Amino acid sequence: MENIKILGIETSCDETAIAIVEGKLITGKPKLTILSNIISSQIDLHAKYGGVVPEVASRAHMENIVPAMKAALKSHELKARSSKLLALSQIDAIAVTCGPGLIGSLLVGVNFAKALAYATAKPIIPINHLEGHIYANFVGEKSKVKSQKSKIEFPVLCLIVSGGHTSLVLMKKHLKYQVVGETWDDAAGEAFDKVGKLLELPYPGGPNIEKVAKSGNPKSFKFPRALMGKNNFNFSFSGLKTAVLYEIRNISKLKAPATAFASAGRQGLKLKADIAASFQEAVIDVLVEKTMSAARKYQVKTIMLAGGVAANQNLKDRLRAQSSGFGVNFAVPPAKLCTDNAAMIAATGYFYGLKNDFTPWQKINADANLKLK
Ligand code: KG4
Ligand code: ZN
Repeated sequence: MENIKILGIETSCDETAIAIVEGKLITGKPKLTILSNIISSQIDLHAKYGGVVPEVASRAHMENIVPAMKAALKSHELKARSSKLLALSQIDAIAVTCGPGLIGSLLVGVNFAKALAYATAKPIIPINHLEGHIYANFVGEKSKVKSQKSKIEFPVLCLIVSGGHTSLVLMKKHLKYQVVGETWDDAAGEAFDKVGKLLELPYPGGPNIEKVAKSGNPKSFKFPRALMGKNNFNFSFSGLKTAVLYEIRNISKLKAPATAFASAGRQGLKLKADIAASFQEAVIDVLVEKTMSAARKYQVKTIMLAGGVAANQNLKDRLRAQSSGFGVNFAVPPAKLCTDNAAMIAATGYFYGLKNDFTPWQKINADANLKLK
């Protein structure tokens, strides 16, 4: 199937997301257009707990999924000037995230997709959340930097950096993945979120650390860069998080960091910015060094970034500059497609659809630990 519309469903963590993506082959090349992209965020619900509470997340998915579906059809309906029923009848296949993720959250999306496939007799495609992040690179605008090569040519090396994962994935062709490195403990996004808490920043830590770090000096604190220069492509961020904790305790001479900044006025703000900037620099140094050494080893033609942390401007700029120096293409999705969304799931579905690779709904299951292969 070459020209198809895919409905994507994503509920692996704390975003209830439904999207419709149209895929076409134009002179042999896939062109993907987003017809609707609804994300019902639960950030406000979880912010008061400082992180995602699985039980709260799955209940919120239950409440949000039907309204999200209606909104996705509505926005398609407006664009296609058709009725809601027509909008649904124009969908050719359903793509749904089956894992990895929180099991209670995954089950909501997976069972919704199965019921929909049964009721409408449409084919269904199970998608790994991580391949979804990778395929966000095949939708939407490409690099606007003129000097930058922005084509995607295989072999591709993709650095996936999200709240749950940090992996380097080698792809010699579409839909074939070889994980060449991953984190031994915390994911990069998880480290951002934990350090965000230590710095008393709102959840999620990543975007807030990035904001605060802008006015900080990244050289003020020398935080550890674990496994750098080692002969592997793995990562470790838990020591870095602990180093930040000790530094805060040391500075404040307090057992708990909670009041270290609040009571210190302007000086406290400067300190916060310097710690944020130095922490961010340590994470990015490791991510960039490991990615470039893997790119050299596997002689790739394209370096790609994916996942929520890929929204970080410093990370994008550093990896883009290094890729350019190395003479390879660089790709990163627009920021709104880096964090969890269903357009990336529908986009991945299109590539399976091209191969007529569908699965009977009876065989689809949620798997919290689904591996990329
Ligand atoms: O991909 P994602 O939306 O969800 C998972 O699959 O985990 O990633 C969320 C993660 C969070 O840890 C968040 O703090 C981080 O991405 N993040 C960022 C930025 N925006 C989101 N980290 C650093 N800089 C950002 N601008
Ligand atoms: Zn994700």
